[in-house]
Amino acid sequence: MLRTNTCGELTLNDLGKTVTLCGWVQKSRDLGGTTFIDVRDRYGITQLVFNDETAADIKEQARVLGREFVIKVTGKVIERSNKNLKIPTGEIEIAVAELEILNQSKVPPFLIEDETDGGEELRAKYRYLDLRRNPIRNNLVLRHKMAQEVRKYLDGLDFIEVETPVLIKSTPEGARDFVVPSRMNPGEFYALPQSPQTFKQLLMVSGFDRYFQIVKCFRDEDLRADRQPEFTQIDCEMSFITQEDILNVFEGLVRTLFKNVKGINLIEVPRMTYADAMRLYGSDKPDTRFGMAFVELKNVEKSASEAPLLWKGGGEAAFPVFDQAELVIGINAKNCAAYTRKQLDELTDYIKRPQIGATGLIYLRYNLDGTLKSSVDKFYNEEDLKKWAEAFSAQPGDLMLLLAGKKDKVRKQLNELRLEMGNRLGLRDKNTFSPLWVLDFPLLEWDEETQRHHAMHHPFTSPKPEDIALLETNPGEVRANAYDLVINGTEVGGGSIRIHDRNLQALMFKHLGFSPEEAQKQFGFLMDAFEFGAPPHGGIAFGFDRLCSIFAGLDSIRDVIAFPKNNSGRDVMIDSPSTIDRKQLDELKIKTTI
Ligand code: AMO
Repeated sequence: MLRTNTCGELTLNDLGKTVTLCGWVQKSRDLGGTTFIDVRDRYGITQLVFNDETAADIKEQARVLGREFVIKVTGKVIERSNKNLKIPTGEIEIAVAELEILNQSKVPPFLIEDETDGGEELRAKYRYLDLRRNPIRNNLVLRHKMAQEVRKYLDGLDFIEVETPVLIKSTPEGARDFVVPSRMNPGEFYALPQSPQTFKQLLMVSGFDRYFQIVKCFRDEDLRADRQPEFTQIDCEMSFITQEDILNVFEGLVRTLFKNVKGINLIEVPRMTYADAMRLYGSDKPDTRFGMAFVELKNVEKSASEAPLLWKGGGEAAFPVFDQAELVIGINAKNCAAYTRKQLDELTDYIKRPQIGATGLIYLRYNLDGTLKSSVDKFYNEEDLKKWAEAFSAQPGDLMLLLAGKKDKVRKQLNELRLEMGNRLGLRDKNTFSPLWVLDFPLLEWDEETQRHHAMHHPFTSPKPEDIALLETNPGEVRANAYDLVINGTEVGGGSIRIHDRNLQALMFKHLGFSPEEAQKQFGFLMDAFEFGAPPHGGIAFGFDRLCSIFAGLDSIRDVIAFPKNNSGRDVMIDSPSTIDRKQLDELKIKTTI
């Protein structure tokens, strides 16, 4: 090795030792007679000192070292007079006797410090320099640790890690495929896997019993903070299990990660049905770090005996917006009755933005003096408003925010408002972790654009046996044996019990609008395999990047990925995607006008 020690480990215990360190020049201070240089590597920073006792030529050399030069120094560990107790090596310094410049560096385009002056674009272009910064490197160290813990836990339960191919054919996980042209089969394409779903099921048919893989998946979809075109899953599958077994094994994985990586003892993960999640939070991935569950004042699907007709009021006038609405719902923002007109206007503007699309916001203040004041006072009397406040279990000082409209839309809009209020009230602390299982997802969802049903999870998901009969009469009502793990409002994992019977799988394809020929052409290999003794099986996949970003307290998954893509799917460092030579296109028999 070129060095005896790293830059992060020497302390007062090493006084008097002669050591050799290698690293990058973090900063240098020339105080006339004495030069101090901080040398940095992955492990930390050590101060070097060049003073009157240093040979003149070495001292001179030290003076010209620039930021990020790569150096090797040998010297004695001495006690520092001006100690820095914030870092482990802050009580010592190295009195340098030998200095070698291993490589020079151009002036970096931004500061290699925890707080940098580099903008996002610049840092992406020089990602290898950004990765020198502690916060980014620490994220990757965390990721490494999590991957090790995952392997340890699953190996301990007899899961076998198996690699599945990357050049495959389309698997329908709901996004577009990335495709790769085949030179040897002109006009034909491979698809990159959106997940190893079909392969892991085939491994169950092969009797592997318990499979996992930390695996790259590829999806050509619109990008967001928690979506990358290539991302990593912890992909798992088990045979001879029930849904309950899967929930227990993978709750165990999540708890182990929290315990061993963050030192947090997680309480048992609560469970909620999809129907309840939508009713109470308007989302299939509710952020349960805070309450503020929805309260319904009107629901056309409920009879008068099930729900009091609070929205009607006892007065003469009727409020047309409520009269016409399918659903009138609201949240109770505790201790917000003193919100100013301006704050309420801001909230109204927020939910009226085109992305959310609400038409208006109705409020009810429960003032500290016990009086009630609403934006619909002219339609309702004090008695009516009191009943509303009771429905919300409101206390003096609270502010109720209500929306009305079509049920699906209004729930989604109120979900956005609830999350915004959670942000404003500081209820979404990154160091609080609230996991939740969401169960009993619908099997199918209606797609307006194509006017047909799509599989909500994927087409291999088993309907609940008791709901199979509904497939013919009321397909939208069929529930699936499908589950998601949500942490702090992010879907970190999803899975299901699978269909393992050829006829049921064929029926499923029929309901998804496939002709028997199309189903056979695309998925015949799987359905054929089901005829050779497929065991009952099921599984789950976690979004590994999402899990890491939650553990790291980050908003975006980009910073837990070494070389991520930007929002347009570009890697600006290597400049990809890019055009290819005409010759390459000709070999692939691809004609293009671009
Ligand atoms: P699903 O499609 O729900 O299930 O994906 C599993 C998990 O992967 C993560 N994820 C993503 N992370 C980053 N960027 C993306 N573009 C992205 N897309 C998905 C999410 C999600 O919960 N084969 C099934 C799993 C199964 O049934 O076992 C599947 O892929 O955290």
